[in-house]
Amino acid sequence: MSAPSIPTAELNQQLKALLQAASESFQQAASLRDLYDLKVRYLGKNGSFSNLMREMAKLSKEERPTFGQAVNEAKAKLEGNYAICETRLTNAEVLTRLTAEKLDMTLPGPVVPNGATHPIYSVTREICSILARLGYAVRTGPMIEKNRYNFEALNIPEDHPARDMQDTFYIDREHVLRTHTSPIQIHVLENEAPPLRVIGFGAVFRRDSDVSHLPNFHQIEGLLVDEKVSMADLKGTISFFVRELFGADLKTRFRPSFFPFTEPSAEVDCSCPVCRGKGCALCKDSGWIEIGGSGLVNPNVFKAAGVEYPRWKGFAFGFGVERMAIIKYGINDIRLFPENDLRFLRQFT
Ligand code: DAH
Repeated sequence: MSAPSIPTAELNQQLKALLQAASESFQQAASLRDLYDLKVRYLGKNGSFSNLMREMAKLSKEERPTFGQAVNEAKAKLEGNYAICETRLTNAEVLTRLTAEKLDMTLPGPVVPNGATHPIYSVTREICSILARLGYAVRTGPMIEKNRYNFEALNIPEDHPARDMQDTFYIDREHVLRTHTSPIQIHVLENEAPPLRVIGFGAVFRRDSDVSHLPNFHQIEGLLVDEKVSMADLKGTISFFVRELFGADLKTRFRPSFFPFTEPSAEVDCSCPVCRGKGCALCKDSGWIEIGGSGLVNPNVFKAAGVEYPRWKGFAFGFGVERMAIIKYGINDIRLFPENDLRFLRQFT
């Protein structure tokens, strides 16, 4: 056994000095970050205390345990000091942050403007929900249609005025931007088996533009196919839905008319919601406003779509959605709908 080359007293002195220096530097640490660095320096694996521990080898076997215990006690003490400094610095840092991030609860919050549903969409949704109560399901179709769907299958012959260049936007020889939602009827008749109750809606396009016409407007289309269908069913359904949409006091009127895809056909008017029939600018003094067309499905349409006739019969109707929104909200210029002027749209929030 080798004699100790360092007396215990000297190592104890070093230990005491180290503890003192470490404690003082912990106390002087200006931030948590600095404090942590100091902890590594003194208490880390290669820190000062570990180095001192290594010196223990130079002590006699008898002296080692006593010194080891002294080192461990000093370390424990220092760790306690560390914890105290850590709490103090944490509190100080939180306080600094809280002061810097001080919230003024009395400040007004940021203003997030409320969006509004576009009146065309509101009316469409309302019509769909009224007709859903009568068992109608919603269908849509393409805006670019084949001539066959927009015209031929709807019994609109080649020389019909609706095909005139003035009304139709042509895409190419075979395709047009649909001029009405009636082609949805053909898609439904081709793809679904009767009995049927469907509504189709969407944008339609015509070469037309003035106070009461838009080149791009919206229609809603109804189609019912069953074994026994009459004009009385058609009138009952439309009168019901006009009353539900506009109010019980508005009357519905049917005028004989012509559409290639219906026979007989009727135009539908409803009493003017502004003057209640007395006569005003909106109804051009007639007391009535035209809202769309209707009729019993022409057998030629059934034939074109491959539906058995006279086993199946049907009625159909098509309404302009802008027209109905004008009536419902008392709007005096159809061009307000596509303009998206916020002063107009905000009135519907
Ligand atoms: N498609 C016609 C139009 O745009 C409106 C219409 C009339 C639709 C009679 C129908 C109908 O379903 O039966 O002018």
